[in-house]
Amino acid sequence: MKYQTKNVMKHITFILDDAIRPGAVFGLEGTLLYVNDSFHKEFVNDGTGNIRELFIMPPTNLWDDIISDIKKTGNKTIDVNIRLGQNRISSVRMHLEYLDDDQQVIALFDVPQKFGDIAEKTYIQAFRNSDSFMVVMNRDGLIYDVNDQHSTFFNLPKKYFLGKSAEVILKLFPEDPESLINYYKDINLYGFAEKITRYDRSEDGVRYYQVTTLYDCETQVYLVRMNDRTEEMAMKNSLAHTNSLSTIGQLAASIAHEIRNPMTTLKGFVQLLKISATKDAMKYLSVIDEEVDRMESILSEMLVLSKPGQNERTTFSLGVLVADMIQVIYPKALMDGITITQKGNILKDSLINGDSDKIKQVLLNLFKNGIEAMTPGGNLSVFVSLDSPGKVVLGISDNGKGMDTEQVKQIFIPFFTTKSDGSGLGLPFVLKYIEEHGGTITVESEVDIGTTFIVTLPSAIRHDSATDTTKKRVHSP
Ligand SMILES: Nc1ncnc2c1ncn2[C@@H]1O[C@H](COP(=O)(O)OP(=O)(O)O)[C@@H](O)[C@H]1O
Ligand SMILES: [Mg+2]
Repeated sequence: MKYQTKNVMKHITFILDDAIRPGAVFGLEGTLLYVNDSFHKEFVNDGTGNIRELFIMPPTNLWDDIISDIKKTGNKTIDVNIRLGQNRISSVRMHLEYLDDDQQVIALFDVPQKFGDIAEKTYIQAFRNSDSFMVVMNRDGLIYDVNDQHSTFFNLPKKYFLGKSAEVILKLFPEDPESLINYYKDINLYGFAEKITRYDRSEDGVRYYQVTTLYDCETQVYLVRMNDRTEEMAMKNSLAHTNSLSTIGQLAASIAHEIRNPMTTLKGFVQLLKISATKDAMKYLSVIDEEVDRMESILSEMLVLSKPGQNERTTFSLGVLVADMIQVIYPKALMDGITITQKGNILKDSLINGDSDKIKQVLLNLFKNGIEAMTPGGNLSVFVSLDSPGKVVLGISDNGKGMDTEQVKQIFIPFFTTKSDGSGLGLPFVLKYIEEHGGTITVESEVDIGTTFIVTLPSAIRHDSATDTTKKRVHSP
């Protein structure tokens, strides 16, 4: 069957018709003049268009290079990406022969061999019916097929993927470059790589996809498979949480019990001593009394993590509380050679609702950590800002040793500490208290530069307009 014969020499059409491979004749502009049966079937093309329309994402200058090369040497073999039937895209080897007299070009194509019929059917069924999202890419990373799970996994149409480079998939995940490089390294080394990635753009919240990539040397294709691991991840996280909290609860209870007994004895003797004390001694005894009271309240604080918080809520000024707590921590800072600066005024209208004792603990823990991260000469800088409407923002910056990303990930996990005498319980409490108050906490840190904690709490007064007079920079809470 002939689809077109525009001034194409008889003996050429005869040769092409005999060929099993797809073949075509075209002019120097690419206009198809003749195509054989196999060409028609493989490329689903009736031979009326331009051969250039077959190429998918051709390199710039591809056409000019082809024409100038064949004019010079008479022939050329080149690999091009072509769309085959059923929207498959494949790298196809194209042999070109230039007919000088007629200014025409003969093209013969080596289409990659297909699998056996049964194998192909099984493969296609597995591919189509899988619960996983699957992508097939050629060795240049061009996507030439995806199964129908694309809508479940990404809510994107098939055409978003087909014929595009692997980049369109990478774009969907906010990956840190380092982990991507490792992923590529694994593929190159072992022909296999696997990782769990976060997908944020889903309508029903964050999802976790396990992404597996396999390279098949024989067919020279990459198979990418994505499985939804969201449920497992959620389960794992909640288990980790319950475990650590109940461990803390048990520990807190047993420590509190052990320490309370000797403390009761201590209190009793202080009361006894007060009876016979001189005026001077009385002063010291009162201090001991107060300190013992504080120890008791700290002990009961330790029990809080295993119990829901009690509600002793009042309205108070965070700015004023911050100034008070700076006074409390000041002696420790002085001893360690650290200066403390509170930026701006103490904002009297930085009112929040909550349990001021707990917020005190938050402040003391954050101040203490900052001071402990620095060497003499360091500075702890504290600010309270009303720049965000409806919110009171607290920032605590130190110029201490800082943390790397791995460390930052762990600091809110109970018992994580890098200090020889640390408990690793400070920040877990801080987080719990802030969350109880409907607030958030974020941290930014750089090794050897310093650390900034930003705490955001709901304001007790409605901020219809910016009532704030101090303009301070809020480091992206
Ligand atoms: N401002 C900071 N600078 C550097 N590292 C910090 C800072 N705050 C906390 N960390 C790190 O987080 C860990 C956990 O802190 P925390 O929960 O308060 O427990 P602890 O202070 O008892 O170690 C610390 O051991 C330290 O490694
Ligand atoms: Mg601490």
